[in-house]
Amino acid sequence: MLSVLQPLLFVLLVLLLAFCKTIVAVNRLPSSAFAVPGDATYDYVVVGGGTAGLTVAARLAASGASVGVIEAGGAYELDNGNYSVVPGYAFTEPALAPVEFFPPRPLIDWSLVSQPLTGAAGRRIHYAAGKTLGGSSALNTMAYHRATKGAYQRWASLVGSTAYTWDSLFPYFFKSTKLTPPNFAKRNTPNATFTYDKAAFCTTGPNCGPLQVSYAQWVDPTNTWFAVALKFIGLATSSVGFNSGSLSGGAYTTGTIDPTHATRSSSETSYLRWAIANTGLMVHYRTQALKILFTSGKATGVSVVTEGFPYTLTAKKEVIVSAGVFHSPQLLMVSGIGPQAKLTSLGIPVISNLPGVGQNLQDQIFFAVQNGLTSASTASILADPAQQAVALQQYLNNTSGPYTSAGGYIAFEKLPAASRANFSARTTSLLAALPADMPEIEYLAGGFPGNATAGITTTGDLSATLLAPFSRGSVTISSLSMLDSPAIDLGWLKDAADAEVAVAAFKRLRQAWSAPGLSPVKVGLESRPGAAVQTDAQILQWIRENAIQIWHASSTNAMGMNATAGGVVDKTCKVFGVTGLRVVDISVFPFALPGHPQATVYALAEKIAADIIAGR
Ligand SMILES: Cc1cc2nc3c(=O)[nH]c(=O)nc-3n(C[C@H](O)[C@H](O)[C@H](O)COP(=O)(O)OP(=O)(O)OC[C@H]3O[C@@H](n4cnc5c(N)ncnc54)[C@H](O)[C@@H]3O)c2cc1C
Ligand SMILES: *[C@@H]1O[C@H](CO)[C@@H](O)[C@H](O)[C@H]1NC(C)=O
Ligand SMILES: *[C@@H]1O[C@H](CO)[C@@H](O)[C@H](O)[C@H]1NC(C)=O
Ligand SMILES: *[C@@H]1O[C@H](CO)[C@@H](O)[C@H](O)[C@H]1NC(C)=O
Ligand SMILES: *[C@@H]1O[C@H](CO)[C@@H](O)[C@H](O)[C@H]1NC(C)=O
Ligand SMILES: *[C@@H]1O[C@H](CO)[C@@H](O)[C@H](O)[C@H]1NC(C)=O
Ligand SMILES: *[C@@H]1O[C@H](CO)[C@@H](O)[C@H](O)[C@H]1NC(C)=O
Ligand SMILES: *[C@@H]1O[C@H](CO)[C@@H](O)[C@H](O)[C@H]1NC(C)=O
Repeated sequence: MLSVLQPLLFVLLVLLLAFCKTIVAVNRLPSSAFAVPGDATYDYVVVGGGTAGLTVAARLAASGASVGVIEAGGAYELDNGNYSVVPGYAFTEPALAPVEFFPPRPLIDWSLVSQPLTGAAGRRIHYAAGKTLGGSSALNTMAYHRATKGAYQRWASLVGSTAYTWDSLFPYFFKSTKLTPPNFAKRNTPNATFTYDKAAFCTTGPNCGPLQVSYAQWVDPTNTWFAVALKFIGLATSSVGFNSGSLSGGAYTTGTIDPTHATRSSSETSYLRWAIANTGLMVHYRTQALKILFTSGKATGVSVVTEGFPYTLTAKKEVIVSAGVFHSPQLLMVSGIGPQAKLTSLGIPVISNLPGVGQNLQDQIFFAVQNGLTSASTASILADPAQQAVALQQYLNNTSGPYTSAGGYIAFEKLPAASRANFSARTTSLLAALPADMPEIEYLAGGFPGNATAGITTTGDLSATLLAPFSRGSVTISSLSMLDSPAIDLGWLKDAADAEVAVAAFKRLRQAWSAPGLSPVKVGLESRPGAAVQTDAQILQWIRENAIQIWHASSTNAMGMNATAGGVVDKTCKVFGVTGLRVVDISVFPFALPGHPQATVYALAEKIAADIIAGR
């Protein structure tokens, strides 16, 4: 009898194994990483598949936990094509228009518009924010660098934790990225060579992170002239670059670009794709989080909607909110966490009275002085059909040429003594309280197509960014629904200290433009704002009317020691007054870090993921 059954049992066993293998395989197939809408339970539910969200989610999923990510947008490669993927298009993406009436890009951008800004001539500003897998890492202009040792020390002191010092954070910068060393053969401009700190990054091996960081495979020829101009005002080229804890002088910046294909590296191309291939991570995309659900003060899930279909995702362990600087405070507030008076006035039951939610918004602003140049630039080349065709050929043939590159040459400084001589005592003491190594101003070199008829190849654009704004804005809610936009006050130039620093920075731009070294290429007089703007009052008024954002808004759910001092989350990003809930994104930065923030967003997400996995 047994001998008759044996072959049958064997066949059954083989079938069973094949079946199990199919289940395992299905769990690992990319298509199965995208959840069918409907109630589900995970260990961790992450709200927002953006820069921080996908980083945290990928690391938690790799630890063996079940993780569900809620992302309002879709896949930007499908929804926005090469505009989002090709670095050379980064600055021409229509979603970057800062004006109130902007070209809507609803598949990748939240279409947020601020309230009229009292310090900025009453303007309403369209503030681009990524609504897609990858979040703002899929929409940003790809500059990658880290802040200063002093700035991280200040963070550590403010929150009472040595975990935020440069030395403590460095392993997370290191493990989030993989640097490809510069390809000097592809860099077209021989006078744009440089040295850098090779120890700042992982370059090879299994310890490198998924985010690709590289040096541009093309140098905007006009940038070498801006390097000359910035040198003239005292900003020499740094020999280490901006990834080793100091920001001083100028450097060609690293960027989040995969140099093999010269395409954008986002949290989606890096962390998400890695997690899809290696973990059981699940993504609910085109799905909006509406409310965090609580049971006895513990976050137990999130109510969501996919294309009009509502359902609930239950979190066995934690809910992690990574919806960004505007939507994270909005989601907390509609869910009952925020300033009591505001919540009560809208009839929202208060779960945790946290006065700091949505407050403390810090936004770095910038403005530029322009002059004509005879040098070619990325913009002038791509605006000319014949040269553009060559550029396309270079890009497609061997990933070289203007399309491969986004950012360029940037520089940092604390304003020199001569520039601060007339500052008020208050401004002087506010600035003196900043860390000694924390720059106040960033200079960015850029260009636009010039007026060929007038012999101008490029309209050179040298801008200054205020890195340590003292003005404070806010995010609040005007309805109970996440389907409505939050109310945003960017706060620009409300504080007199910012106005003084802005005028001083503007004068530095004019000084840089006066560099004798520019004479081979400079043509004509200053084109913007021009000679009519001369007195401090005129300069300030022009800045109020023309400054725009550099999309670095932060600190609307500030990390702090406690709620009474305005803190929203503690040093491991746990929200005060409840359990099972963290916020992990740029909204928890206690203050605006100097320069471009994405490197720190990734590192912070890595750090908090490690905290969660370690049970902290
Ligand atoms: C145009 C632009 C240019 C920039 N340039 C640079 C640069 O060159 N270098 C640099 O370092 N930084 C740059 N930044 C800033 C940087 O990209 C951001 O600070 C950073 O990406 C923020 O990360 P985050 O995780 O806090 O938020 P995000 O990456 O914005 O992620 C938030 C995510 O949450 C999702 N979400 C929001 N609400 C909901 C909801 N209710 N339900 C579901 N999902 C939701 C969003 O769709 C988004 O995917 C730029 C930003 C922009 C917008
Ligand atoms: C981007 O796509 C458009 C439309 O398909 C195409 O014309 C253009 O050449 C592409 N650009 C690059 C750099 O590939
Ligand atoms: C840099 O090198 C290029 C190519 O040789 C040259 O055209 C340009 O004038 C140089 N620029 C500066 C600032 O030296
Ligand atoms: C890349 O291709 C372009 C034209 O397609 C060519 O001019 C250039 O020399 C090539 N560069 C390298 C580094 O191979
Ligand atoms: C394409 O690039 C290769 C090197 O990568 C180069 O040898 C070749 O000449 C380029 N093709 C054209 C058409 O320029
Ligand atoms: C400081 O004020 C004096 C007197 O008004 C003026 O001459 C000088 O240019 C000012 N300095 C700066 C850096 O603005
Ligand atoms: C370009 O320059 C020419 C010659 O100086 C001038 O007539 C024309 O108005 C300029 N065009 C623009 C758009 O400024
Ligand atoms: C709250 O934190 C602040 C520092 O941010 C501190 O000065 C204060 O003593 C703390 N209050 C309580 C009640 O712990």
